[in-house]
Amino acid sequence: MNVAIVGCGSIAERYAECIRAHEPLTLVGVTDTIPERAATLAAAFDVRHYGSLADVLADATVDVAVNLTVPEAHAPVTAAALEAGKHVHSEKPIALRYDEALELVELARLVDRRLSSSPATLLGEAQQTAWKLVRDGAVGDVRVVYADANWGRIESWHPSPQALYDVGPLVDVGVYPLTILTAMFGPVQRVASYGTTVEPERVTLSGDAFSLRVPDFIVTVLELERVVARLTTTFWVRHGRQRGMEFHGVDGRSLHLTSFQEFDARVELTSDGGDTYESVPLLRDPYPGTDWARPLVELAEAIDEGRAHRASAEQAAHVVEVVEAIARSQAEDGSVEVRSSFDPPLPLRWAT
Ligand SMILES: NC(=O)c1ccc[n+]([C@@H]2O[C@H](COP(=O)([O-])OP(=O)(O)OC[C@H]3O[C@@H](n4cnc5c(N)ncnc54)[C@H](O)[C@@H]3O)[C@@H](O)[C@H]2O)c1
Repeated sequence: MNVAIVGCGSIAERYAECIRAHEPLTLVGVTDTIPERAATLAAAFDVRHYGSLADVLADATVDVAVNLTVPEAHAPVTAAALEAGKHVHSEKPIALRYDEALELVELARLVDRRLSSSPATLLGEAQQTAWKLVRDGAVGDVRVVYADANWGRIESWHPSPQALYDVGPLVDVGVYPLTILTAMFGPVQRVASYGTTVEPERVTLSGDAFSLRVPDFIVTVLELERVVARLTTTFWVRHGRQRGMEFHGVDGRSLHLTSFQEFDARVELTSDGGDTYESVPLLRDPYPGTDWARPLVELAEAIDEGRAHRASAEQAAHVVEVVEAIARSQAEDGSVEVRSSFDPPLPLRWAT
């Protein structure tokens, strides 16, 4: 599958490295509205530097556009690529608004192209191991989930953090555990959320001051059909000890996934009747860190096998509706219903 990267910012090099490491994928070229960024990445990976998105879309050899642009550009770039007959994998969020996300789902169906979306870290070894343990009843019937995305002050490492602050920690990182949660337990039905800004004035690495428009600390309670969850997301606390997901079962047993993102995270279970957690071996040797190309490999296999791909646009659209409901809940100071649904993904074959 020939892949072109659109958007050559902070994450693009890690994507390019992961794409290069996988047999079914070939990185053919890259583009960015800032040409120097694309030129640098193209030179580093010895691939084509496309002058514009239109040039990528005009290249008949490109099968998939990987949308690594800033969140506000996701929907228009994805729509253009689908209309040009390309499959698309988009970084999160799939769109900023739920109605836009639905339009993309519909467009992909109309033009008969695949649309997949990050976060896809459920495809990791630790995450698949945790999911299998939950399905196998290792902690009994799970009724409560705690999820924590403490991502720290991202301006301390990200060279251009404003675009991510414009969407806030829920959209940037909260969607990782949210996607795992909903894949495991089905759609969210209702949310109640509180958001505030702990540190409204920030400074970039290059010394530019900027003000936050979106809360940097958000706590949300989410009701699913069988599970109630509490999700905390911040762009302030970095070294909070709560950084993953806890699954609590009816008979007092619990499972701890230490990271929703790292494929080699620890998976821990409480011992029988005990209060301490013990590590569980993962189902297979994990990729160290996050394999950003894994949803692309999955997409390539799904196309080849003529089946649905796992990181679905429908689920990503549901997550966008949840994000909108969370914002409304904060604005209206009350709980908000969520209506959309999606077909849940299947576990990976080696984890069934
Ligand atoms: N940085 C990370 O660690 C990280 C990790 C996981 C996911 N992501 C996601 O990846 C995406 C990109 O994040 P980033 O940190 O690399 O952002 P970034 O701002 O560093 O890079 C985005 C790039 O997209 C380019 N761009 C914007 N609009 C464009 C358009 N219309 N056409 C072509 N290029 C365009 C920008 O010029 C910029 O170079 C975001 O959705 C983010 O949520 C980032």
